[in-house]
Amino acid sequence: MGAIMSQGEAPQASHRRVVVSRHGGPEVLEVVEEPLPTPAPGEARVRVRAAGVSSYDLMQRRSGALPGTPRVPFTPGLDVVGEVDAVGDGVTSLAVGQRVAGGSFTRDGGGYAEHLCMPAWELVAVPPGVDDAEAVCLVVNYLTAHLMMHRVAAVRRGERALVHGAAGGVGTALLELGGLAGLTLLGTASAAGHDVVARLGATPIDYRDEDFVERARAVTGEGVDVVFDPIGGWRQLWRSHRALRRGGRLVWFGVAAAPRDGLRVIPASLAMHTLLRLLPDGRRALASDHLGKFSLRHRPWYRETLAELLGLLAAGALHPVVAARVPLAEAARAHALLERGGHAGKVVLVSGGAAG
Ligand SMILES: NC(=O)c1ccc[n+]([C@@H]2O[C@H](COP(=O)([O-])OP(=O)(O)OC[C@H]3O[C@@H](n4cnc5c(N)ncnc54)[C@H](OP(=O)(O)O)[C@@H]3O)[C@@H](O)[C@H]2O)c1
Repeated sequence: MGAIMSQGEAPQASHRRVVVSRHGGPEVLEVVEEPLPTPAPGEARVRVRAAGVSSYDLMQRRSGALPGTPRVPFTPGLDVVGEVDAVGDGVTSLAVGQRVAGGSFTRDGGGYAEHLCMPAWELVAVPPGVDDAEAVCLVVNYLTAHLMMHRVAAVRRGERALVHGAAGGVGTALLELGGLAGLTLLGTASAAGHDVVARLGATPIDYRDEDFVERARAVTGEGVDVVFDPIGGWRQLWRSHRALRRGGRLVWFGVAAAPRDGLRVIPASLAMHTLLRLLPDGRRALASDHLGKFSLRHRPWYRETLAELLGLLAAGALHPVVAARVPLAEAARAHALLERGGHAGKVVLVSGGAAG
């Protein structure tokens, strides 16, 4: 049996997709036109309305040296929001026309496209009244923040946390979820991001000019309970560990330092993290699987947590920071924007909706 398609519209034979044609600068992103994909059994096809752009996409575009980067040509984009417009055999949990959000973890990307087929379990219903671009921020950024905050660090109300990269996509999510969890927050960002960091209830620290270890100690006396570090690098992780009180936890989950320091930041971070785990000084160094791998192994967690976050968004309890809405065909501009830095929140590609 074939896929069930949307009713009442002339069938669309082709769609556009953005591909990394070869490794290099933003200019290597090209738009190709191709036949619409057909959902396999157990899959749904999504007409994408919003797709997230992340620093992971930028690293995969720049070089094939990042472990796990697909061979060129490939389509980046892990997080999407859109409408189901066809379902494959055996899919009963989703209906054509339903608005959904999800992470394309099985395929490890593919979101920069007008249409994308995904396993039905990866897609969660989006409540009415929710903005597509805000909803897409929840999929990777807020789920990552939730994972690090509640499963890895297991934070408790009243604790003090230092969030690095606090004006970034995951950083703003950590600040907002940290506020809801009753944490006292400090956040490092360059000066351009300080307004956003303060608006999200945290004390901003300028990582370019200030010593965050000293600031953390000045604010807390003994050091913070938790540090969330998506920056990486041996010196950065060592200093993050120093900002902790005895008994505190360092959660390392990214290498945002890579654009500045190169991919050698990955082995340097792994080595320092191993050393910190072995140090018998009462502080703990923690890390987690990448969100995608974790979600593939914990599907109920992924679905329940994303549904919970979408519910909070619909209730007005979350306010994701959308840095820019860029039309899909201008994906190269979206990458250049993210690469330049100095923005706050998440850059989102939009199709068939308002850009700005
Ligand atoms: N483990 C996982 O599952 C997972 C999931 C998602 C993301 N990540 C990782 O998390 C990291 C951040 O992702 P993102 O999407 O939030 O990226 P993003 O939006 O580009 O944010 C990164 C932020 O880091 C800031 N920054 C750069 N160097 C810094 C430093 N030395 N100290 C403090 N802040 C610094 C930048 O601020 P300025 O512009 O002000 O310099 C920027 O706001 C990436 O490495 C990504 O791979 C991991």
